[in-house]
Amino acid sequence: MRAEGGGPPLAIVGFLGDESFGRAAAAALRAADVVMGIGRLLDALPADVAGKRIEVAGPLAETLELAAERRALGERICLLASGDPGFFGIVRVASARFGAGALEVHPAPSSVAMAFARAGLHWDDAVVVSAHGRPLAAAVEEVLPWPKVAVLTAPDQPPEALGRALLDAGCGPRRVTVCARLGHDDEAVTRTDLDGLAAGAFAPLAVVLLEVPGALDASGGPTLAWGLPDHRYAHRAGMVTKAEVRAVALGKLALPGTGVLWDVGAGSGSVAVECSRLAPGLRVFAVERRPDDVERLRENTIGTGVVVVDGEAPDVLAGLPDPDRVFLGGGGLNVLESVLDRLRPGGLVVATYVALDRAAAAATRLGSMVHVAVSRGVPLGGSGALRLAAENPVFVCWGPTPGPDDAR
Ligand SMILES: C[S@@+](CC[C@H](N)C(=O)[O-])C[C@H]1O[C@@H](n2cnc3c(N)ncnc32)[C@H](O)[C@@H]1O
Repeated sequence: MRAEGGGPPLAIVGFLGDESFGRAAAAALRAADVVMGIGRLLDALPADVAGKRIEVAGPLAETLELAAERRALGERICLLASGDPGFFGIVRVASARFGAGALEVHPAPSSVAMAFARAGLHWDDAVVVSAHGRPLAAAVEEVLPWPKVAVLTAPDQPPEALGRALLDAGCGPRRVTVCARLGHDDEAVTRTDLDGLAAGAFAPLAVVLLEVPGALDASGGPTLAWGLPDHRYAHRAGMVTKAEVRAVALGKLALPGTGVLWDVGAGSGSVAVECSRLAPGLRVFAVERRPDDVERLRENTIGTGVVVVDGEAPDVLAGLPDPDRVFLGGGGLNVLESVLDRLRPGGLVVATYVALDRAAAAATRLGSMVHVAVSRGVPLGGSGALRLAAENPVFVCWGPTPGPDDAR
């Protein structure tokens, strides 16, 4: 068989650990005149093929030129690759060089598929980020907004370097699974957190899985949901931002994908929890001063990425990173002033008030206000009919409202 561009087909066989996948891959190895690859992959060759090995170490372009020269002489070339060569692998460059029709690709399972399999997780909702050939900071930027990410680490950027870069970037809590040397005899799967990742010493040939605890499952789980019923949160007699008001406040917060959010006077933490679920890339801090509320707050935030801060605003805010978003569940205007002092450029504060005078002052300071009056339908006796039961009206204030020249 002759392939496009002249010469026999160029076989590319993927290996994961010391195994290729399937009979066609084994046949391609046997049929080849030469088998080219890096030492780690060549070492996995079966004994009857090992004699055909040509070790390459330089840039991929040089390897492909060598393959082209030998192929032009009529030799059948087989290139070795790791995992699925079409997934962050050599197929991209090889098809540009030889034409897609010249290639005969035999993938092994991708290291990413295998990593999620080892972790016992589905991954149709995961984002894959490569740290190869780019600054780690660029990979970290891509990691931060997503609840479930697999990172392909590089020899010069091992898992622990990724961990340090994530901590430096202020990444919130993550469940971490480091899957190193998959398919090799010394395969190691380590479950840890970001601190453990940063402090560890892992083989650089690894896939690092990062999950935001408690994040929504974008595929099979509950759909994006906010304004959940009040009873979902343990709270002190009615001291919870009511579901419908919470829904409005979350809308006004216009949550960014990354950054810092403070929920000040968090009470039950319902706003913090829903912000963290909707925008898992945010670092969410829930600040509360009453010890009994702090206890409930801790309970409500178990398994989420929310960090509970036990103390009184504004003093305790000094220890937190500057916010991009702040939710204020009431409180005095001095707290509003102190969060505005710390707000990052382009940031937003959303505050709810029951008292008219405070709401009016906050609306004047922030620029925007809406009055939310909710009546819930409740059963009227045993008749099956509904009557309206009015909730306390709440003022939702937000801003700073952009001026006419502001693009936001
Ligand atoms: C250039 S990418 C190639 C990905 C490959 N095409 C695949 O589908 O697995 C190389 C990266 O894949 C990951 N990788 C490849 N083989 C691995 C293995 N046996 N165990 C863990 N990670 C592996 C590592 O992150 C490595 O740095």
